Amino acid sequence: MNTLLVGAQWGDEGKGKIVDVLTEQHHAVFRSQGGNNAGHTVHIGGKKYVLHLMPSGILRPRCQCLIGHGTVIDPLALVEEIKGLHAQGIKTRGRLFISDRAHVVMPYHRVLDQGREAAAKGKKIGTTGRGIGPAYNDKASRIGLRVGDLLSADKLTGSVRDRVKEINALARQHGWPTVSAAQITKDYLAAGKFLAPYVTDTALKVNELAARGRKILFEGAQGTLLDIDCGTYPYVTSSNTTSAGLCTGSGLAPNRVGKIVGALKAYTSRVGEGPFPTESPDLADLLHALGREFGATTGRARRCGWLDGVLIKYAVTVNGIDEFAITNLDGLDTLPVINIAVAYQLDGKTLTAPPAAIEDLYRCQPVYQSFKGWQADTTAVRSFAKLPRRAQAYLRAVEKITGAKINLISVGPGREQTFGS
Ligand code: IMP
Repeated sequence: MNTLLVGAQWGDEGKGKIVDVLTEQHHAVFRSQGGNNAGHTVHIGGKKYVLHLMPSGILRPRCQCLIGHGTVIDPLALVEEIKGLHAQGIKTRGRLFISDRAHVVMPYHRVLDQGREAAAKGKKIGTTGRGIGPAYNDKASRIGLRVGDLLSADKLTGSVRDRVKEINALARQHGWPTVSAAQITKDYLAAGKFLAPYVTDTALKVNELAARGRKILFEGAQGTLLDIDCGTYPYVTSSNTTSAGLCTGSGLAPNRVGKIVGALKAYTSRVGEGPFPTESPDLADLLHALGREFGATTGRARRCGWLDGVLIKYAVTVNGIDEFAITNLDGLDTLPVINIAVAYQLDGKTLTAPPAAIEDLYRCQPVYQSFKGWQADTTAVRSFAKLPRRAQAYLRAVEKITGAKINLISVGPGREQTFGS
């Protein structure tokens, strides 16, 4: 059975760890959207690994890993990530497959991303600054370069020269840094040479694997509320982070999907700007004081708040989530009271689904259901039955409010701190 794993919130739900746990039951892991804006943290045997583009399955020696045409790849960052894994004794040759059709993030995409954000003043998105939006923009405008192009000196040289001319003219107008076409071409050809043994048609490969009965895990990046269509637009990323996006981004035929798992943090966090109805600065202060909730990619302190039943129910619906893997339950261990939003109030009306207009979402007032906290350490618990009764009640309430069952519970970063419900 092939499994899709999606983030049910604004990303950072702990997908890296859940992928690592689920990989045990799969032969291959596929990353099919986003780029190195993602940061997936996995702790194994006291060692911490932070992966950006690499599927988390790379940490299991027998697992095959694929990066699909729906991603945008910064080849220099990917080469560094692969070299970093080699330095830690992790082999990639014969296990890693990169799509020849994935679009490439160029240095000028970062110039545009960072320049636009700096100029946006009060209207910043709060992007990771990795050039993700401009790279997807070039793809949709049909002027992008793809991984396969890194293997052709002629094509790369001409395309980079033309695009750099255009971007540098814009950069000079705005006072942004300019880039060198010659340097980019040299660096990207070298990266292409390094990556060449990994490059293939991953859409054919994944369907072949599926036809042979190999079980594949599709590792979503970011989260449902950052989806360019279903998320809190314009405060979103530039790809489809929902379950359907994992099919388009990999080329997996949708009728080969088995199960859809939602990664859900026991509270909510978000990085970057945008509405966050259940935001609680007090909860953020508490979690930050515990050393929690700092971004894996940018190191930024994440905004934190209560679980939002309205948004999660929306995520269950648009993804078709069959079950949840809930993470960071231990983050709530010290709290006397825990809230979950069950509806919003807007202009005297009760809403049970998020409004489309961002201006309206900013004005929504959450209606909370409150729960007594368990105020006990759960990090050494290894079964649902051994959880404090109030923690059990909280989890059952989450299931009732969101309409999906919790199948996996995580109470810490380690592989062993995970159990079924
Ligand atoms: P971009 O993807 O860099 O364009 O950033 C757009 C929005 O998505 C910003 O709010 C980022 O903070 C957010 N974002 C992008 N990648 C991640 C992620 O992996 N986890 C959480 N938020 C992300």
